[in-house]
Amino acid sequence: MCGIVGYIGSRNAYPILIKGLKRLEYRGYDSAGIALQNGSVNVYKKQGKVTELEEHMMGMDLSGTMGIGHTRWATHGEPSDLNAHPHVSNNGDFTIIHNGIIENYTVLRTSLIEQGYKFKSETDTEVLANLIEYIYRSQKVSAEDAVHLALSKVVGAYGLVILCNQENDKIIAARKSSPLVIGLGENEYFLASDATPIIEYTDRVIYLDNDDVAVIKRDELILKSTKRNDALKPRIQTLDLGISEIEKNGYDHFMLKEIFEQPRSIRDTFRGRLNLEKNEIKLGGLYNVHDKLIHAKRIIILACGTSWHAGLVGEYLFEDLARVQVEVDYASEFRYRNPLISEEDIVIAISQSGETADTLAAIQLAKEKGATVLGICNVVGSSISRETHAGVYTHAGPEIGVASTKAFTAQVTVLTMMAMIIARSRGLVGNERFAGLLNELEDIPEKIDKILQQNDKLKEIASIYKNVNNALYLGRGVSYPVALEGALKLKEISYIHAEGYPAAEMKHGPIALIDENMPVVVIATKDSSYEKIVSNVQEVKARNGIVIAVVTEGDDTIEKMADHVIEIPATDPVLVSLLSSVPLQLIAYHIAVMRECNVDQPRNLAKSVTVE
Ligand code: F6R
Repeated sequence: MCGIVGYIGSRNAYPILIKGLKRLEYRGYDSAGIALQNGSVNVYKKQGKVTELEEHMMGMDLSGTMGIGHTRWATHGEPSDLNAHPHVSNNGDFTIIHNGIIENYTVLRTSLIEQGYKFKSETDTEVLANLIEYIYRSQKVSAEDAVHLALSKVVGAYGLVILCNQENDKIIAARKSSPLVIGLGENEYFLASDATPIIEYTDRVIYLDNDDVAVIKRDELILKSTKRNDALKPRIQTLDLGISEIEKNGYDHFMLKEIFEQPRSIRDTFRGRLNLEKNEIKLGGLYNVHDKLIHAKRIIILACGTSWHAGLVGEYLFEDLARVQVEVDYASEFRYRNPLISEEDIVIAISQSGETADTLAAIQLAKEKGATVLGICNVVGSSISRETHAGVYTHAGPEIGVASTKAFTAQVTVLTMMAMIIARSRGLVGNERFAGLLNELEDIPEKIDKILQQNDKLKEIASIYKNVNNALYLGRGVSYPVALEGALKLKEISYIHAEGYPAAEMKHGPIALIDENMPVVVIATKDSSYEKIVSNVQEVKARNGIVIAVVTEGDDTIEKMADHVIEIPATDPVLVSLLSSVPLQLIAYHIAVMRECNVDQPRNLAKSVTVE
């Protein structure tokens, strides 16, 4: 969703800001803007892509060694030039960019209108700009104090970066539930909503905590909290992120790069955690909760979208291997029910970005009810990783394509390792079975490599079905979430309607859809329900349906029935989702490319969904 970038130092700010905005494009947005401070503040903003803003700014005054930039994903008010950020207060004192939502903005807006303030946009952000200015002028306080006072009146979430026209030697930044990171250079600072625009300048960063307000001058950074008045000691961290990880490196799209990265990303997920010699798995982030975890009566998994699908795979793993009762819930549903949670429950929140608003709110609720909350996140330092009691990073590397691919397989890898740890600690998996699973897990990257070698064949299948209007994905057991995930990948990037279903449910409704035009993708690998899925394939074929089957290497039964078979290497059935999800990602990718869709930034979607 919205992205923030900022710079203060001695270099020209514009090239840093525009490049930063391009780096943030992956988050999803509909308009972009930049403000440059050069004696006075010049604001440029445009609905549309960052390149349109760039064209609009050609020939303008782009000087200034300090400035801020924003990509907006519309919440309050349609995408338009006027609603784009930055927003300037009525008298021009404050120019601000903002991620998040000010929930009480209507009340604040009304009282500012009573004070004579006028609004050009429909946004909550313009209200905030004017509120700060109103306090600054009426109470004759410093810019920093005006920000603190304004924030004390605000209900909601914000990542906020502010320029003050009268105090033009500083940038003020504030955070509550919407991330902000500050990069440290030599007499210069970089600001952003995530580290991607910063990484090429510095690896020394400070992640702001909730309620932090930073006043940043070229040679000084002062950090305070809205809760206390004394200065805080900033915690400087080193970014573990390389520039090549956020570039396409010769691939046509980030999504394709990320699909092909999976052998590497899965290895990174289990690096230093699997020990074949000692026949053990260690997840350092869970040491403090180990006892609670192994004695848990119930695990509740909370997530959204693809991460929720990983959670469903987790349900099978925990129940099958560790015999723990598991519930998987959409975070958005969980938070608005009156869920039954006890102090003995373990909640696992799964999130690639670590910023998903619904997941964060669900975590809050679970904590209030006394549960122990664990996180599985990809983005280091993200809000969810901070809000949870303990957790495990997936270490898949930055995922830039909006459609999640490598994050999903990394999440499943972590869930597998967790299930194996609990199973062994509970005495449910003996040394031999544990060693077998460990070896199979170690072999997964190599097996994915083999699947990736079938890319041309998958592209050919995609070319046959690129014009269909509907597709059905079927799977049983652990392959059911894979079917859901395959369908989600197709619909979100190619805009073809696709549904995932438990294969046995087909005859309770979806079977009515089957005809000679709609492909049915069946995940039919060898496991305990193989015979049943063979029957499902026959049911589809008996109605002249088209079957694309994902099968285990060497399967000659389904080969005789299906229109297309995609072979994946044999593995332990517990691990099969790590393999079977990969060809489905590639089919969706190729279909979307052939339909000339914007694969990396599908319409209306955002990479991190920071609003509910
Ligand atoms: C789909 C996709 C989304 C995300 C969902 C949750 O490809 O990426 O469905 O999985 O928005 O996001 P995170 O995992 O960041 O909480």
